[in-house]
Amino acid sequence: MQTKMWKRLNHPQKNDEAVREAAQLLLDQQVVAFPTETVYGLGADATNKKAVQEIFEAKGRPSDNPLIVHVSDRAQVESLAVEIPPVAAELMDAFWPGPLTLIFQSNGSAAENVTAGLSTVAVRMPDHPLALALLEAANTPLAAPSANRSGRPSPTTAAHVYQDLDGRIAGILDGGPTGVGLESTVLDITAEVPVILRPGGVTKEDLETVIPRVEVDPALAGSAEAPKSPGMKYKHYAPEAPLWLVEGDDSFFAETLTACKSRGERVGIIASRELADFLDHDRIIRCGSRRHLSEVAEGLYGALREFKEADVDVILCESFPETGVGAAVMNRLNKAAEKKVKDQ
Ligand code: TXA
Ligand code: MG
Repeated sequence: MQTKMWKRLNHPQKNDEAVREAAQLLLDQQVVAFPTETVYGLGADATNKKAVQEIFEAKGRPSDNPLIVHVSDRAQVESLAVEIPPVAAELMDAFWPGPLTLIFQSNGSAAENVTAGLSTVAVRMPDHPLALALLEAANTPLAAPSANRSGRPSPTTAAHVYQDLDGRIAGILDGGPTGVGLESTVLDITAEVPVILRPGGVTKEDLETVIPRVEVDPALAGSAEAPKSPGMKYKHYAPEAPLWLVEGDDSFFAETLTACKSRGERVGIIASRELADFLDHDRIIRCGSRRHLSEVAEGLYGALREFKEADVDVILCESFPETGVGAAVMNRLNKAAEKKVKDQ
């Protein structure tokens, strides 16, 4: 399949030729990648089972993992959910368009492979002019997971999508680098007290300014544990070389680096600029300041893609505080890491 790359659109409108062409491909049951404010998504008509099946095939995604449905207005939410509870209305007022996905009871309008057979459906309104223009032009909700091959870091540029999916999808709309850099927060509002199923761009602290109580899925804490079976590998957000998450102060990081080098290992480093300035090493990707975790979120996936298998034997990565968007950063790093190196 020839993958069409439209040239970058900076002020997209639903009538732009590229947007209309992409929308037509979607209505022809094809899949098209588009930018959102979090990461690039791989879209298909959410009401069409055959179109949605193309997403799973292009990504190599397991079919039991449900997709998020993207909408451009509230009427589309009403077309998908049994009802909009008051808590959802408050959250949509506060955070939409934006990086918050809400889980509703499904009325069955979304294709069955979107929800992987669940009775619920995940919905969000992206805060990106190109995503919204495409949704308006297609005039149908779009199912869209992150536009990476399954297991790889999510794409934050059109070039990342191209690396993973060239030849496997109908087209890529380029809207430049995404802003947030990590996927949306997934919040289940079907429970009595809303539960965060995936931390993301809208933080627990942000949610608590609008609703009195928010819980965090206990399974998220479990993701911090090292895999119990030695052969078991994490299959999420994985860089090409093994990633070790280093927990300790800057001196401990420097000692870990020295130990790797003394074994003859070629080391790549992902670090804040504070740690980078402290270390004496040439292969460092700086992702922002540790005092501004949103910068780290923005740079993280690009950094994970940067180090190639041929160039480094191991990637050492700094650990960050789990406050604010740091919770989402550490959630992804724990999944990407092959192991942790801790200061005793
Ligand atoms: O920021 C984002 O959310 C990006 C952009 C493209 O919008 N999309 C994204 O999609 O991250 P994906 O497919 O990579 O992640 C969807 C997450 C998965 O963890 C999935 O299990 C969860 O949402 N999910 C989807 N539907 C669900 C449901 N009905 N109940 C519980 N979790 C659900
Ligand atoms: Mg994903």
